[in-house]
Amino acid sequence: MKVAVTTILLLLCAVALGACGSQGVQIAKRSPYYRGAVLFRDHCSGCHTLSSVGAQGSATSIANRVKTNGPNFNIRKENVEQALYAIRNGGFSGAIMPENIVVGPNAKDVAAFLAAYSGRSAQKVPATNITLSTK
Ligand code: HEC
Repeated sequence: MKVAVTTILLLLCAVALGACGSQGVQIAKRSPYYRGAVLFRDHCSGCHTLSSVGAQGSATSIANRVKTNGPNFNIRKENVEQALYAIRNGGFSGAIMPENIVVGPNAKDVAAFLAAYSGRSAQKVPATNITLSTK
């Protein structure tokens, strides 16, 4: 009896954990960003963190980081041009991230999604107007 109960409990745990993994994307299916979000989860989440798709690929501490840990997009804000540049070029440095993981309309959808959802937990820094002079 004990064994049966333990087995059932373990199975329930597995089901619960499995459900967690497949949820990931927290964006409405009819949102214009949904497609890009799914593509990002499938192709980018191994190396980047972004909570709106459940991605946790960035380093969490210096002690356990690896070379492929990319920037955390909860904090880092990207615009569409930057995202497309990184996708085509393999990050900004072209050294670690593979190039063209997504291409064509898929690349555009990922870039639009990333531009809309990145940087949402970034610290707000007050802007100061400065006047630059070259004289
Ligand atoms: C194999 C790991 C890996 C995968 C997969 C990956 N990246 Fe990267 N990415 C990196 C690393 C490492 C960097 C930082 C180094 C650099 O910029 O060259 C980076 C940098 C970036 C940057 C520049 C960020 C900045 O502000 O410095 C963007 C944007 C980016 N990645 C987007 C994506 C997108 C979109 C995908 C999915 C299509 C993706 N990455 C998939 C590892 C990865």
